[in-house]
Amino acid sequence: MAEIATNIPTGSIAHGDCLELMAMWPAESIDLIFADPPYNIGFEYDHYDDNREHDDYVQWTCDWIDACARLLKPSGSFYILIGDEYAAETRLHLRKLEEEKRLAFRNWIIWHYTFGQNCKLKFNRSHAHLFYCVGSAAAKLKAHQKLTKNPPFTFNRDAIAVPSARQTTYNDARANPKGKLPDDTWYLRPQNAEGIYFKPQEDTWYQSRLAGTFKERQGWHPCQLPEALLERIIKVSSNEGDLVFDPFVGSGTTLAVAARLKRRWLGCELSKEYARRALERVQHVEATGETMQVHCADKGIQRGKPKKKPEPHRSPKDKQGNLLPVKP
Ligand SMILES: C[S@@+](CC[C@H](N)C(=O)[O-])C[C@H]1O[C@@H](n2cnc3c(N)ncnc32)[C@H](O)[C@@H]1O
Repeated sequence: MAEIATNIPTGSIAHGDCLELMAMWPAESIDLIFADPPYNIGFEYDHYDDNREHDDYVQWTCDWIDACARLLKPSGSFYILIGDEYAAETRLHLRKLEEEKRLAFRNWIIWHYTFGQNCKLKFNRSHAHLFYCVGSAAAKLKAHQKLTKNPPFTFNRDAIAVPSARQTTYNDARANPKGKLPDDTWYLRPQNAEGIYFKPQEDTWYQSRLAGTFKERQGWHPCQLPEALLERIIKVSSNEGDLVFDPFVGSGTTLAVAARLKRRWLGCELSKEYARRALERVQHVEATGETMQVHCADKGIQRGKPKKKPEPHRSPKDKQGNLLPVKP
């Protein structure tokens, strides 16, 4: 069994297997954990083999979730992003931890994105599952203790509230002037990427997966998440100075956003090269306060005029706008 350190190495990306690393850190020491593990769908990482046997992958998933639950403060929050293939198994394990009063499950969020991979003989994938849980303090509340009155976890409602339709459309006097909470389906579109993620009159998120041409995309990691996704999570579930942990750092999105929002940060990454480059990304944010942007030319992407769009089919009309019979 690993020896438990008294301190947790905040402000670093630990290189190695997150299971081994987490086992060395003190229990109940982290405010917010966000995990985006490999999905076991054959993705090409530089080091990790994303083709494990089913049972092996499920057991590994349960193991790292348990390790995260151990590190989470009773007042902490824990988010897991996962694909269709293992969403059910992951949810079942979270239910087990709920029964053991180690976590309380709060939401099954759907992140709906555009720019999913184009399929040939089935529908294109356009969503991932985001499980939102909080620590043991909420799980141990007695039936008479009302969660909403004095929640034993951070939930900064006003930091992520959006104007409601009562305010923007119906001019309804009953509207909460502070807006409403977003729905549990988060819809993200490419057209509004790179800048404005939340339009004031809308309660959905407009931000796609990151296409290669987007400046935010670093270009050296296969599955970089958009910062907008992490921004909402970190704003609502942590405060300045809190410790945010990501066991699967990848390109460093979670830690870069945490640094920008003045949270303390910590991560694990199996690949030495990913860990090194992610650290550069986080250090850039710390030095400048800004998201690191990479131009297409630096990623080897050639931009040109898009191909001319085909003319849309229009029904023939006479000068008065009446439909003409279609010629056979
Ligand atoms: C889905 S990616 C994370 C992407 C990240 N959310 C981002 O925005 O860039 C998963 C990462 O986990 C890393 N990984 C796989 N197994 C690991 C392990 N046992 N410990 C730590 N990292 C691991 C992979 O190298 C990969 O970079």
